[in-house]
Amino acid sequence: MESPRVDAELLLAAVLAVPRGRLLTLDAVPADAADRFAALVAERASRVPLQHLTGSAAFRFLELSVGPGVFVPRPETELIAGWVLDRIAGTDRPRVVDLGTGSGAIALSVAAEHPGARVVAVEADPGAVEWTRHNAAVRAAAGDTPVEVLIGDMTDPGLLRDLDGTVDVVVSNPPYVPDGARLPREVADHDPPLALWGGPDGLDVVRGLLRTAARLLRPGGWLGIEHADQQGGSLPAVVRAHGAFDEVEDHPDLAGRPRFTTARRA
Ligand SMILES: C[S@@+](CC[C@H](N)C(=O)[O-])C[C@H]1O[C@@H](n2cnc3c(N)ncnc32)[C@H](O)[C@@H]1O
Repeated sequence: MESPRVDAELLLAAVLAVPRGRLLTLDAVPADAADRFAALVAERASRVPLQHLTGSAAFRFLELSVGPGVFVPRPETELIAGWVLDRIAGTDRPRVVDLGTGSGAIALSVAAEHPGARVVAVEADPGAVEWTRHNAAVRAAAGDTPVEVLIGDMTDPGLLRDLDGTVDVVVSNPPYVPDGARLPREVADHDPPLALWGGPDGLDVVRGLLRTAARLLRPGGWLGIEHADQQGGSLPAVVRAHGAFDEVEDHPDLAGRPRFTTARRA
């Protein structure tokens, strides 16, 4: 385990339904809670993701429900969501499309942090979209601007035809793992295959999504795509070669690793 103590503390906090910080002040753990805790620790030791055991993942200001069938949102993706928010700052009712939304992490954060944004969240996996819909309903009930959730394929030339040329920002954290890459067991055994694999160079889905983004974006609209550490050169090159975009730029994450590419619809 990379962080056994933190994971154990978060599992105990989940069992006791208290914030992790409260553990220090506990006098005792009831026997039934200790049994449940021991069972969860055993599951975590067999590499079940922590977030599947607690049932939720923190993402920016949100707590999102996650579990088997949906990709667990990662902290590094918070950066591209922040980039979307920077792009639409000061814009009244911007249109944003999140392609491959999974739990809804990016789409729901944009709606939460930019009230009035018209956000469409697209997801191809019928199992994952159940989680998207659940999270979207929870956030709308909490008062955030509702997000439209659509089941669809981001590479489909017929997707969202009615929005052609009108979208301010298209964002995606697509499947980008090159076929055959070795992954930690938490990922390989528990994240859905459709969320991971992107063909021989990992960029098969990206090539399709570029066509969709070029069609949806208004002139001057922005595209942001997350990618693997090793794709900081290849993904910008694919975007440049497409021909519909300018100002192609790659951005590092907080650890300095190449993390996402942005470009403007020419
Ligand atoms: C890496 S996950 C990212 C999920 C979420 N955006 C996040 O950042 O946590 C990629 C998502 O894209 C979805 N997906 C894969 N291929 C797709 C396609 N052709 N069209 C739409 N969604 C797709 C997967 O099911 C998965 O939910």
